[in-house]
Order: sequence, then C-alpha cells, then structure tokens
Amino acid sequence: MENVFQSRNKAKPIVYHLRDVVRDRASEGVTFRLRVPSLQITQGEKIALIGESGCGKSTLLDMLAFISQPSNIGAFRFRPEIEDDAIDVAQMWNKRKMNKLGDLRKRHIGYVMQTGGLLPYLTVRDNMSLSRSVMGMGEDDTVDKLAAELGIARHLDKLPETLSVGERQRVAIGRALAHQPSIVIADEPTASVDPFAAEKIMSLFLDLAEERNITVVVASHAWRHIKRLGLRRLAHHTHRSKDGRTTETVVNG
Ligand SMILES: Nc1ncnc2c1ncn2[C@@H]1O[C@H](COP(=O)(O)OP(=O)(O)OP(=O)(O)O)[C@@H](O)[C@H]1O
Ligand SMILES: [Mg+2]
Repeated sequence: MENVFQSRNKAKPIVYHLRDVVRDRASEGVTFRLRVPSLQITQGEKIALIGESGCGKSTLLDMLAFISQPSNIGAFRFRPEIEDDAIDVAQMWNKRKMNKLGDLRKRHIGYVMQTGGLLPYLTVRDNMSLSRSVMGMGEDDTVDKLAAELGIARHLDKLPETLSVGERQRVAIGRALAHQPSIVIADEPTASVDPFAAEKIMSLFLDLAEERNITVVVASHAWRHIKRLGLRRLAHHTHRSKDGRTTETVVNG
C-alpha cells in the first residue's frame, strides 16, 4: 500500500526529462561519447553523479545547464517552475535559440563551477551579487544573509585571492544561490579541500538548497561523504576500448 509520502512524491513535477540524449567529443583521434538513454529529475530532488576523472560528469552538467549542445536529442524537456509548462529544449537547440537558452539558464539555474570561477577583481560581495545584477534584481539583504549562513560574512569586502580555498568554494556556492534559482548544478564544488571540510561545505550547501526547495545536481569523485548526505546517485557505466581511444559513458536515472 502506498503511504502519503510516496504518493506526494509521485505527484512532484519533472524538472528534467531526457531521452536518448548524446554528446560526442573528439580531439586528436580520441573520442568520447556520453549517452543518456533516460533521465528524469523531479523538483526538489538532490542528485549525485559520481565517477572517475574523464567519465563525463562535466559534460552532463554542461548539457543540463544548456552550456553545451547535445550532438543528438530524442527528447529534452525542462520545467523549472511548477506553474509553467515544460519547455522543449530540443527544439530550442535545433532552432539555435541560444539567447533563449541563455536566458533560461540565467533565470532558473545556479552553477557552481569546477574551478570556482570567481572573478578575481571583484570583491566577495560583488561576486555573490553578480547573478542578481545579471538578472536585473535589485539590492537587498539576500547576499548578506547567505554570506552569514555560509560563514563568510566577514570576508564580504575582500578579494577572492585573500580567502582560503574552502572559503572561496563557499562564495561560489553563495553566488549560485543569490538569484534564487530553482535548480543548482554543482561541478565538484568541494574538490580542493580536505574530506572533512568537503563534507561540511557540502552539507551546508544541501541544507541551504533544501530550505529553498531547490533541485540539486552535483558531480563528485567522492561517494563516501555524498552517500551520508542522502543524495540519489545516478547510475552510470563507462566502457573504454582496448586501445584507449574510444570511451563511452552511459548514464541512466
Ligand atoms: N573541449 C573538449 N574537446 C574534446 N574532448 C573533450 C573536451 N572536454 C572534455 N573532453 C573529453 O570528454 C571526456 C569527458 O570529460 P569531462 O570533463 O566531462 O569529464 P569529468 O568526468 O568531468 O572529469 P573530471 O572529474 O576530471 O572533471 C574526457 O575524456 C575529455 O577528455
Ligand atoms: Mg569535470
């Protein structure tokens, strides 16, 4: 018999619906293919893509953020807000509506880049406010509140280079949340700190996301601490040819 939680879960809207999405990459005769036969992510879900370097984590995240164009699409639908209809992303790519895809990303998605991606000549406050100004959002206390929650309030007027790596990662997380997106995509947001700090930062990030009912997709090498935080792990399988020149990763979930 179904309990209330299960039936409520079932009714949750699907944010990402992908079917037979492929991304090919090639350089110097070495080819990589990411294949997604089927992927559905529901609103508020916290998803983890865990795998070795080069298996295609960033490739998948970049497709989910409309940064890189799939080579082939069966279906790709995106429904960032419950009250909106699903958007046909496949059609947007086919019609080369780059500006519309860019607008969708800016409005609905926060992205924590693998390299942090903070602008070195802007203060922490200005870095965190960037996503808001791009959206034309006015100044309020959002950045101050987030900085306090992330434990970086005292660094707001400093330049990123004067912060520790872990502090910079917190700033990058704050920047991805500041414009109140409904989805946050995080590419190894804690890769450069020790495992203890990584778990702490990741846990803080997931708590902030949960409070705001944000859908989260995170890529990481390290399953151990992610597992403890209760994320749903995406199934994937990587196959490399004997000569090492062809790699294919298949992701399903
Ligand atoms: N611009 C590019 N041109 C050609 N091939 C690329 C390009 N970027 C990445 N690749 C290849 O695509 C494959 C997947 O790369 P991707 O960056 O998605 O891996 P990853 O799982 O994020 O790795 P890491 O954990 O090191 O970040 C790799 O084999 C890589 O060499
Ligand atoms: Mg990567």
